[in-house]
Amino acid sequence: MIDLENVTVTFDEFTAVADIDLRIDEGEFVTVVGPSGCGKTTLLRTIGGLQEPTAGRVRIDGRSPAAAQAAADLGFVFQRHTLLPWKTALENVTFLRKLADQPANEGDARALLRSMGLEGFEDARPAELSGGMRQRVAIARALHLGADVLLMDEPFGELDEITRDELGVEIRDLWRRERKTVVFVTHSVPEAVFLADRCLVMRDRPGRLEAAFEIDLPDPRDASVFGSRAFQEQVAQVRETLHESYEADARASDD
Ligand SMILES: Nc1ncnc2c1ncn2[C@@H]1O[C@H](COP(=O)(O)OP(=O)(O)OP(=O)(O)O)[C@@H](O)[C@H]1O
Ligand SMILES: [Mg+2]
Repeated sequence: MIDLENVTVTFDEFTAVADIDLRIDEGEFVTVVGPSGCGKTTLLRTIGGLQEPTAGRVRIDGRSPAAAQAAADLGFVFQRHTLLPWKTALENVTFLRKLADQPANEGDARALLRSMGLEGFEDARPAELSGGMRQRVAIARALHLGADVLLMDEPFGELDEITRDELGVEIRDLWRRERKTVVFVTHSVPEAVFLADRCLVMRDRPGRLEAAFEIDLPDPRDASVFGSRAFQEQVAQVRETLHESYEADARASDD
């Protein structure tokens, strides 16, 4: 379980996120949306121990993020894949475990690449892969690490819409099989709704949690969900909350 108590992060005088109280259950898929600059990345980095909170406390299964990271319990996937260009897809997947002094299992890594639709590309280097394929390798790498908690910051941000939809279906499916705890930041409201058990909406200046929506959609979720009424209604609800806070902020800055 991820537990944030009154987490505030300030940079010099600037408060990036303020007073965040949040509990995320083991095995829960939580998505985070909000305007650019509202503190989503800061929040994710703070959960992952890449950023120290100025006040408050983060616990991951009762431990500090640093301890969870040391135990290889945290996996990161960022917007821009961070694969090593000189290593093959397979080597990129096994590399983090080796770095964490854990035995890499090549058979598992190959199976993961296969399950991500990358059979036949094990020996390709990142430059030989498409953007979507690189992100798949980055996801396979985080999974191979064996981390129970996956922190994803706009992992599909640079991909075209159809690839995004497809990867969304794959990620949700993978999550159903593996039951990781996932915190997934995105700019896309439909993606946030499709993926989530719970969708958090953040608000700007200072960054804070504005609303949380329990997402009610059937599982397993395939691409047909995108056309369903339940999906569209929940997307509209999240959008409305985002627009309301945007307009309130615009009014406040006019005064
Ligand atoms: N290391 C830092 N030093 C100073 N200010 C920072 C730092 N990191 C983030 N900020 C500021 O904190 C605020 C929140 O940034 P953050 O990157 O968390 O936003 P975000 O919601 O992820 O935005 P985007 O959607 O554009 O990725 C921004 O105003 C940013 O300028
Ligand atoms: Mg960001």
